[in-house]
Amino acid sequence: MAAISTRKLSEFVGAEILDVDVDRLLNDDDLPSACLEALEEYGVLLFRELHIDDHAQVAFCRKMGELVRSPNFAIPEVIEISFDPANPNAKYYSSNDHWHFDGAMDEIPAKAAALTARVVADKGGETEFASTYAAYDALSDEEKERFADLRVVHTFETIQRRSHPEPTAEQLADWESWPVREHPLVWEHRSGRRSLVFGSAASHIVGMDKEEGRELLADLERRATAPDRVLRHSWSVGDTVMWDNLGLLHRAAPFDRTKPRRMHRTTLVGDEAIK
Ligand SMILES: [Fe+2]
Repeated sequence: MAAISTRKLSEFVGAEILDVDVDRLLNDDDLPSACLEALEEYGVLLFRELHIDDHAQVAFCRKMGELVRSPNFAIPEVIEISFDPANPNAKYYSSNDHWHFDGAMDEIPAKAAALTARVVADKGGETEFASTYAAYDALSDEEKERFADLRVVHTFETIQRRSHPEPTAEQLADWESWPVREHPLVWEHRSGRRSLVFGSAASHIVGMDKEEGRELLADLERRATAPDRVLRHSWSVGDTVMWDNLGLLHRAAPFDRTKPRRMHRTTLVGDEAIK
């Protein structure tokens, strides 16, 4: 395994990779597996001002697994996160400022993602991360027992309503066309680790009074994302951040959406259902 030099970025999540430049990223064939191991350990990896282009990002990510492809973009493995009116996905991105993991409505959520900053906001627009492994570990023994069999329903409408509380009929019809997904609250991963599965797509808890379930989910989110448990990354142009989508929540901090901010994301297909 390639040895990589790291520096922890916060107590519960994140490490900066200190000794990787573009040449090593593309040519050290042991690096992808070393990065996957580091992702498992730290949740978030920061390659500060690496300045890779889209092709390098795709080439490196492809060595770590199959990539999600979107027909909406010129390079299908690179989706643009921006509020540019020409971006066909922009209408959904308001909800990125609520805590979530990607693909909550998918049968198998994305494994990980790499995000490179191309244009950054003058103010705001940071990305925040919080570990849902750490959130599980922080539960009391009584909670671990009480939550063991709970199941949570996730819907696209739930996440979108947070940003659009009074949707149009067209928005509602779009949101309702997305699948509804039920996941266990506690995910026992193949690795043996456990994490909590919630976030802004979580609608309600199966078999529990809706309001009571929502309060429980909100309480879990508050505790998981308390300031001392969050890594907040302030972007510089050229930064690349990878995150483990399976044991983390993330969100974008507010910024002026009339001004440009553009991030390029490449996503690794998941290979483990939540159970
Ligand atoms: Fe996201």
